[in-house]
Amino acid sequence: MTRVFSGVKPTGHLTLGNYLGAMRRWAAVDQHEAEALFCVVDLHALTVDHDPARVRRLSRQSATLLLAAGLDPELCTVFVQSHVDEHARLSYVLECVATDGEMRRMIQYKEKAARERQRGGSVRLSLLTYPVLMAADILAYGAGEVPVGDDQRQHVELARDLAVRFNQRYGHTFVVPRATRPGVAARVMNLQDPASKMGKSDDVGPGIVYLLDEPDVVRKKVMRAVTDSGREVVYDRETRPGLANLLEILAACTGGEPEALSGAYPSYGALKKDTAEAVVEVLRPLQERHKELCADPGHVEGVLRAGAERARGMARPTVDAAYRAIGLLPAAAEAETAGAGAVVTV
Ligand code: TRP
Repeated sequence: MTRVFSGVKPTGHLTLGNYLGAMRRWAAVDQHEAEALFCVVDLHALTVDHDPARVRRLSRQSATLLLAAGLDPELCTVFVQSHVDEHARLSYVLECVATDGEMRRMIQYKEKAARERQRGGSVRLSLLTYPVLMAADILAYGAGEVPVGDDQRQHVELARDLAVRFNQRYGHTFVVPRATRPGVAARVMNLQDPASKMGKSDDVGPGIVYLLDEPDVVRKKVMRAVTDSGREVVYDRETRPGLANLLEILAACTGGEPEALSGAYPSYGALKKDTAEAVVEVLRPLQERHKELCADPGHVEGVLRAGAERARGMARPTVDAAYRAIGLLPAAAEAETAGAGAVVTV
């Protein structure tokens, strides 16, 4: 069975874009068809200026929302990255395979570093090495498929390159992963700026619907979405991006086709109204489940503990194999269990 790995970075509240673009498919398809791991990648949240209490809070909230969205711990593994040491262990080894030039070429690094410097801030070294840690996340589990958005494809390519290079130099150790598209309706755009993605990193804004927004807040945001000049409701991403975004959100929520839906609306107002209600209805069960889970924090903790244990069990043999292959001396206990000959204990 294919192994699938994906991660959610706890740097902001999860949005409708995260849900329709990725999480929904993880729950509906991936967890059933693959051996899937979904990870709250908290170590990655430390690569930029951060508030410890907020990261902790968002990590718990992200994990709870993954479960509320339908990820079932009986079917897949949900866990927190920092609970499994193998990520950091493997990351260092992969730093010894990657080059600094490769890191500096990463588009996301260049953009984020430039922004940080412009603000007069300093750039954390971990922002540069972040893609190596991400490669470790993927390679530690032998994941063959990584469902990610376009902005993460370059990082998955790097993971691929590092796997191939390591295998060539030190012997076959890693599965070579590939990025897969998260599937339908993957691109939900910002309601106020349909040229940019509805990403959680934008942080605040009237154009972003958060998964935990109250129904009235959702309605307000959708009703105030920017639309294009003109009066007819037509589906055209190029010339009517605002309208197209609403039609795609409506289609994603109701299971229709944006093109076909466009013909059913006499006005922008009617389209917005139905889209708002459709989003409210999609979020309702998720929010209810979230509330139940919050009332039982012990349950979520238990799921994460068991998830980390399972993840550790999967990652450990691969990371140990990488340690041995690259030339690190096995610890005595490990040599013994690996059957590497008699171990003299004194
Ligand atoms: N870098 C990803 C993001 O910003 C999150 C991530 C970290 C990830 N490790 C991963 C995604 C491994 C897929 C696989 O969204």
